[in-house]
Amino acid sequence: GFEVEVASTGQVVRVAPEQTVVQALESIGVCVQTSCEQGVCGTCLTRVLAGAPDHRDMYLTEEEQAAGDQFMPCCSRALSGRLVLDL
Ligand code: FES
Repeated sequence: GFEVEVASTGQVVRVAPEQTVVQALESIGVCVQTSCEQGVCGTCLTRVLAGAPDHRDMYLTEEEQAAGDQFMPCCSRALSGRLVLDL
């Protein structure tokens, strides 16, 4: 697992292996709009302020994924211990 931090409030939540980032955020009352929940549509696009995303989507280009400043929390995870999200 890893942690995500909500930059606007400082809330931190652990993302369990069987949970998505969206589900972990929902558990602390932070809603991210989703549609496909499979990394295809782009609806859940979220800016990453710190940490390294582990991209699992098919929406971002390779260049966008490599830049590491945005990710799709419906399916992607983290390579670092914590992601700070622009939420
Ligand atoms: Fe479609 Fe995340 S909800 S890419």
